[in-house]
Amino acid sequence: MTKRVHNFCAGPCTLPLEVLEEAQAEFVNYHGSGMSLIEMSHRGKHYDAVHSETMRLALEVYEAPDDFDVLFIQGGATLQFAMVPMNLLRPGWKAGYINSGSWGKGAIVDGKMHGDIYTAWDGADDNYMRMPASSEIQLQDRTRYLHVTSNETIGGVHMVEWPDVEVPLVGDMSSDYMSRPIPWNKFDIVYGGVQKNLGPAGMAIVFVRKAILEDTNRDIARYLRYDVHQDKQSLFNTPPVFAIYMAGKVLNWMQAQGGLSAIEAAAAAKAAKLYGVIDSSGGYYRCPVNVACRSHMNVVFRLPSEELEAKFLADAGDQDLLNLKGHRSVGGCRASIYNAMPMDGVMALCAFMEEYHRANG
Ligand SMILES: Cc1ncc(COP(=O)(O)O)c(C=O)c1O
Repeated sequence: MTKRVHNFCAGPCTLPLEVLEEAQAEFVNYHGSGMSLIEMSHRGKHYDAVHSETMRLALEVYEAPDDFDVLFIQGGATLQFAMVPMNLLRPGWKAGYINSGSWGKGAIVDGKMHGDIYTAWDGADDNYMRMPASSEIQLQDRTRYLHVTSNETIGGVHMVEWPDVEVPLVGDMSSDYMSRPIPWNKFDIVYGGVQKNLGPAGMAIVFVRKAILEDTNRDIARYLRYDVHQDKQSLFNTPPVFAIYMAGKVLNWMQAQGGLSAIEAAAAAKAAKLYGVIDSSGGYYRCPVNVACRSHMNVVFRLPSEELEAKFLADAGDQDLLNLKGHRSVGGCRASIYNAMPMDGVMALCAFMEEYHRANG
């Protein structure tokens, strides 16, 4: 049997084993064609079926209403930081951004190059350990949209209360994409890189409210225009075939798990186990995040010293519990437990953490 480790990487990350095996089995000779999917035309019948099925599944699994379209765009979530204001902002209009941590800040930095953007709430005073209440968000006149990051991958903070504001929301959902239902009525655009919950890196999946496409900017390069991607059904140029194919398989797998509500419940149960070990350790393990905003995808924690953290990571590695190091900008430890991380992997980590505490407390 192929060796598999418990991979807690923040992205790219673990994918469902069934999906990897299925892809492996049909890789070299795709559906009797005598070639692999990545060797054939993206305008042919085999790929066409994959493309439209992945689109259909993305809308269905995420429970997107009929007034949304789905787009596959290369460049990851980072390109969306620029595309959103490029398409939506006009002179005389601005956009508010929630600065909830590293990724919220990234969206602001890039967004500022393409429009009049201001910070509507800044988590800096609380060291980015929580998300804002709606009453704390300060919107200015002529605000086209409010940008939110649903889950801060590095800080381990997620949004529980979706902002209740007068303007449409635009959401970067990269690190908790399709892990829980979202209030579609509040959003004009929902986007995320796929390399955490949906497949290999190589694109963003972008959901766009159809009505806004009539009025998006046209004076930008064609690849950067949402209306062009919609018009061409994400086949304006050669699409990231392999990423789309794998995302389709993962979406199928999600449906077989019971869909979004089952995935949400599983994520809550996995997160509860890990936070349980942290909270019952008498302070040996510490999660700095405000309890109400603790992420169900990225569980961050510290140990009493950096020496103990280094030994923790080394000992964990010896037991095939890998990629638990916190992001280089913040240090500490982080267990990313995305949709495809089985409960077994989380239980193995919990057992290791308890044993490590006993031996090194
Ligand atoms: C919340 C969030 N937004 C944006 C990004 C950037 O995504 P990409 O690498 O797909 O450009 C990441 C990457 O980890 C992320 O976690």
